[in-house]
Amino acid sequence: MGAPFPTNNPYLAGGFRPIGFECDYADLIIDGKLPREIAGSLYRIGPNPQFTPRGVYNPLRGDGMIHVFHMHAGRASYRNRWVRTQQFQRERAACRSLFATSGNPHDADPEVAGIQTDGVANTALVWQANRLLALEEGHPPIEIHPDALATLGAWTFAGQLPGNMTAHPKIDPLTGEMLFFANFPRHDLSGVLELYRADVSGKLVQQSRIELPFPALIHDFTLTRDWVIFFVCPLTVSLDRLRNGGAAIAWEPQRSTWVGIVSRATLADPAWLPIRPLMVWHFMNAYNEGDAIYVDVCQQEAAAFPTTTGTIPDPARLQQFATRWTFSGKHLRDAREERLSELVCEYPTVDSRDVGRRHRYGYVACRGGPGTGDPFHRGIARLDLVTRQSEVFAAGARCAVSEPLFVPRHASAEEGDGYLFSVVFDERCNASHLAIFDAQNIRRGPIARVLLDHRLPMGFHGLWKSR
Ligand SMILES: [Fe+2]
Repeated sequence: MGAPFPTNNPYLAGGFRPIGFECDYADLIIDGKLPREIAGSLYRIGPNPQFTPRGVYNPLRGDGMIHVFHMHAGRASYRNRWVRTQQFQRERAACRSLFATSGNPHDADPEVAGIQTDGVANTALVWQANRLLALEEGHPPIEIHPDALATLGAWTFAGQLPGNMTAHPKIDPLTGEMLFFANFPRHDLSGVLELYRADVSGKLVQQSRIELPFPALIHDFTLTRDWVIFFVCPLTVSLDRLRNGGAAIAWEPQRSTWVGIVSRATLADPAWLPIRPLMVWHFMNAYNEGDAIYVDVCQQEAAAFPTTTGTIPDPARLQQFATRWTFSGKHLRDAREERLSELVCEYPTVDSRDVGRRHRYGYVACRGGPGTGDPFHRGIARLDLVTRQSEVFAAGARCAVSEPLFVPRHASAEEGDGYLFSVVFDERCNASHLAIFDAQNIRRGPIARVLLDHRLPMGFHGLWKSR
């Protein structure tokens, strides 16, 4: 299996350290009682390089591995598989890494110089039109068999998707339609974005092209009943800068952050509104009521990238906070910013039934992450956006949590009535477990822990699919 992974790279050590095997556990040991009403599958995905990377390891480019806990009648099984991308298969045949994760083509083996692949499928998952898709924003999605986790190949919406798509599409819970975008579509780095609408059957029924204020990294977006909203943050991308000896990606706060508000009906003619410079990676949710749009995000004062002059942001400015932006008034040009909680947090989620609609509760991973000196989050929290109270579960200094996902107790349960899922890595035993909380009392700790005997390397995002 190649050379051991180096231990001096934090993204290859501790909770991030890749595992070198695939396995199936039919019936896992459960600490506590897994409610019998929980019936469905909890998927996780993240980078898990098959071989020691060439050059500097960038986890965004590590081979995707998907994990699933199937739960039924109080019992749980587990399976993990690498996504069989073209890169994965070629490297497996060669028994070593060939492609560079560093982004520097000189780090790649000459054998694969200039070869385009179908990506690494390591960032997020979506279930749409009866398909489980593994996503990574530089390529089309890869379809995965939901039980066997076998790789079924790239899904291009029956050949309609011209290139890449975001790892964070949004599904309207009422219509089932999926809205998504491609940043730098078709390798176009000039600052355009393509927007797409897929209907409930998975057919691409609408697409448009909008011009951005400047080329920038855009990881996520959000929608409401009537609008699609982008935050174009000044984390800019420039090939000219790279050619002149600078960095391809740089933090340029002087350009400010621009909010783009696009009609959901037309997907065209965005209104662009400048706000102060800040960085948003993930949106919690958004909704519109009356003449106002409410957008909840996790934001930081600066992105963790040098400026064009090489200045590194003060780490304290990298801390992320849940924040509400309200846009109202004539042409929605009155912008108001309000911090929702003093918890440092990331990976915001809501009940998927509330996407685009007013939500009361948000869920986050907290106590750690950028700007805290700790790469991991050590707690999960429920934010009550009505009372503005937060309820926190502290996992402990040696436990790292993943993005919390809410699952309603049953299909018609009230918002907040259900379970919260988070995969937790416990470094004391070098193993992970799936922690299941009563979402209305997470402070009490998990009501059940589904135990693995190995590490589930810390990844990015997950997905719940009811049976
Ligand atoms: Fe993400």
